[in-house]
Formats: sequence, C-alpha cells, structure tokens
Amino acid sequence: MAGGAMNKALLPLALSLGVLVTACNMGGGDASNSSQSAPGDLAGARIGAPFTLTNQDGAKVRWDDFKGSYRLVYFGYTYCPDVCPVDLQRIMQAFTRFEKADPARAAKVQPIFISLDPERDTPGVIKTYVAAFHPRLTGLTGSKDDIAKVAKDFVVVYGKEEAKGTSDYLVSHSRTPYLFGPDGEPVALVPVDDPGTADKDEGGPDAVLAFLEKWVK
Ligand code: NI
Repeated sequence: MAGGAMNKALLPLALSLGVLVTACNMGGGDASNSSQSAPGDLAGARIGAPFTLTNQDGAKVRWDDFKGSYRLVYFGYTYCPDVCPVDLQRIMQAFTRFEKADPARAAKVQPIFISLDPERDTPGVIKTYVAAFHPRLTGLTGSKDDIAKVAKDFVVVYGKEEAKGTSDYLVSHSRTPYLFGPDGEPVALVPVDDPGTADKDEGGPDAVLAFLEKWVK
C-alpha cells in the first residue's frame, strides 16, 4: 500500500497486519515490509500511552519521564536470534553518527528498548544487552501483564512460540521501530529496512541517519 494514501484511522490495523509478515524468527523477513510507511505517517495515529516499567538498573520508569525528549522506541527481546539485534545495531549506529554530527539535537533523543519477553528479560539481562548497543539506550521490562498492556497500547503484536522437545522458546513479534515526539506523540516508523543511498563505509547518510536528521528538531 502506498504510505501517503493510507487512512490514519486504519494505520494501527495495517501495522498489526504488516508485522505478521515480517515478524521476528520467521526467517529472511526483511526488506519486504510494505507497511513501512513514508516518514510522518504516524502523525495522529493512536499509538502509545502512559506506562510504568522497570529499567536495566531496576528503577521504575514512566513514559512521562521522557517528556521533552524524542523517543526512539524498539520492541523486542534479548534472546531474539536475528532481527532484533540487527535492527538495534542499525538504529544505534545511526544514532551514534547523529550524535557526532549534531550533539545538541541528539541529546534530545532517548533511545528505548522494551522487552516482549519479561520472563527471561530481567533488568540484569537487559542491562548487559542494551550496553552492547549504546550507552544511552534504556532497556525496559515489567510484569507479563505490564508488558501485555504496553504492547497493546503501542500496537505491537507478539506471542511465545514453544520449541519442540525443549523448554526453550522464541517470541514472534512485530517489527515496529517508532519515533515519538517530545510530547509522546507518534511521528513515524524508523526506516530500518531501508539501506539508504550512500555507502555506509564511506560515511554517507544511511536511511536511519537521514530520518533522524529530518525529524529531530
Ligand atoms: Ni526479534
């Protein structure tokens, strides 16, 4: 579907459907996310709501604590074998470059990772995980009920997938890297699938960096 033509009222539904195609753990599910809307298409969408979760240091954190900051929000889980770490690395590498290019604007952005696997993702587990990506990445977890509510409020779909013959499991989940504005309003989906036009090795702007430069005022 063409991003610009999408009715905003239908966007949450479209996001929900889109994720089923590109969910984590489904293998090779990248580069085909047709619901990856044009930037700015989340304006006015009903995504996000107040919450209280626990950060990687065990402290309670509220959504409203980030008032005044842009919020780069990524839902996933630390045991994710493929999509989450790749997405997070791409987003946080772009953020690092944004910090170097424009420290003042980057300081207004709070990157946030929210776990969809609260059983295994304790604050301690999350602390190690987020530290591997960026020192400013905040990791949040909570009770199963807390996370279920936050996922619903943020239009994220996820579900546990038990593996046969083992107590191990995967968490299939939607891929919804969001940018929210300083008042918690949804702005746009982070174009994490888009490699951009320039060679990253040459320091050219990739899509996520260009996205941050465009939207963070
Ligand atoms: Ni994942």
